[in-house]
Amino acid sequence: MADQLRIGINTGGGDAPGLNAVIHAVTMAACRRGWDVIGIRGGYAGLIDPEKTVRLDPDRVRGIVALGGTILGTNNKGDPFHKTMKDASGAQVQIDLTDQIVENFKKLGLDCFVAVGGDGSLTLAHQLSQKGIPVVGVPKTIDNDLNGTEATFGFDTAVATATEALDKLHSTAEAHERVMVVEVMGRNAGWIALHSGISGSADVILLPELPFDIEKICAHIMRNDRYGRRYAIVVAGEGARPAGGAILQRELPEAERKKDPLLGGVAEWVAREIAARTGKEARSLVLGHLQRGGSPTTFDRLIALRFGAAAVRFIAEGKRNVMVASRPPSMVAIPLEEAVSRIKVVPIDSDQVLTARDLGICFGDG
Ligand code: F6P
Repeated sequence: MADQLRIGINTGGGDAPGLNAVIHAVTMAACRRGWDVIGIRGGYAGLIDPEKTVRLDPDRVRGIVALGGTILGTNNKGDPFHKTMKDASGAQVQIDLTDQIVENFKKLGLDCFVAVGGDGSLTLAHQLSQKGIPVVGVPKTIDNDLNGTEATFGFDTAVATATEALDKLHSTAEAHERVMVVEVMGRNAGWIALHSGISGSADVILLPELPFDIEKICAHIMRNDRYGRRYAIVVAGEGARPAGGAILQRELPEAERKKDPLLGGVAEWVAREIAARTGKEARSLVLGHLQRGGSPTTFDRLIALRFGAAAVRFIAEGKRNVMVASRPPSMVAIPLEEAVSRIKVVPIDSDQVLTARDLGICFGDG
């Protein structure tokens, strides 16, 4: 293994607090070893257009650890295996740009590519590794749904934001004796809903993993009402759905469509149904991208820095086509394939679910 390496790094998919901390750690750890670091801008778009690169060094990454977003930019609709373009007749066609990426990777003289991403971006990284690009992945997602790692950076900050929102909603809900239904992110995994719902003293938590019965939710709220708790806080993961019903999705303009549908609408639906069935006033709100914004928490900064430093150590040790995974107290390298083979959903017999049930929180399922 050559001592002097040249590595590339990109940030792909939806942003998450801690991306800049990973960029900082990768750059510092690599430059300390005398390596070159090339930042690839705009997610996978930067691998298609080599102009979209920037040299990273300690000066360039100074002071970015506490910043949200990503200095490299990102996007979550840039699948280079299925790039949508218009042909000469104006018809939409999908083309595979990956040969161009392999070519550009060689032109840039890169020895390894650090892909910082969630399941979508790391699946692309895995596919690129099968085309001969040596990859080390770093697990990013506020959804906490990546397989094989106990933690992903971004999740802790998102949960803190959601919990703070729930704390604030208690007083206004109580003042008006209303039901407040809060929709949080997480796609098909209910981690943000579960952790913020328990920590923010929700009355009801709706998870994608546990289809709910709206009648049971209403019965729970009315039981509490009879005992003097005249308001209620409901937290709904965006992928939650009634038993036998479908996950709600939002329509996107054609130019913005991507592989995964945009989820949303469950809080509004649940609030409407509760109001109609109980006669109580109900309001809904969607926390949305607030959960992805802002400065990372201390936990997310630290784990992001540890992920970045471990990625460089693994590259130095000659590991390729792996993802850095947190297995406390260590960071380990697991096959990229294992990381993207399935998503990590909430086990319905997990301690967090049992805790919530012991606290009297209703999931609408029992
Ligand atoms: O996967 C991260 C995530 O924030 C999901 O929780 C959410 O469904 C999705 O991204 C939103 O994507 P967009 O940024 O395209 O609205």
